Amino acid sequence: MPVERQSPYFLHVFVCTNDRAGERKSCADGKSRLLKARLKEAVVSKGWKGRVRVSESGCLGVCAEGPNVMIYPQKVWFTGVAPDDVEAIVSAIGRLIGDEGGD
Ligand code: FES
Repeated sequence: MPVERQSPYFLHVFVCTNDRAGERKSCADGKSRLLKARLKEAVVSKGWKGRVRVSESGCLGVCAEGPNVMIYPQKVWFTGVAPDDVEAIVSAIGRLIGDEGGD
């Protein structure tokens, strides 16, 4: 029997890292693993670890618009994200958690 419980995180950032190895478009084509690594670093440097979790996800179903990032439970999605867009996503996370200054 599974144990149902609340998420320990205020929000969870999922970065699609699905890789179809060029067979057809997938988020890994846009360096989404690098994006995920940069987001994780940013979360640590902002002191949000424990409140914000960054995880890889499989395909989110909108591959043509990728790389894709989604934030739950706030239901915020980013499409067409590049590794250099980390600041915009971190800024959004700051607004969502009420820590716009970050540090
Ligand atoms: S491969 Fe990322 S949404 Fe499908």
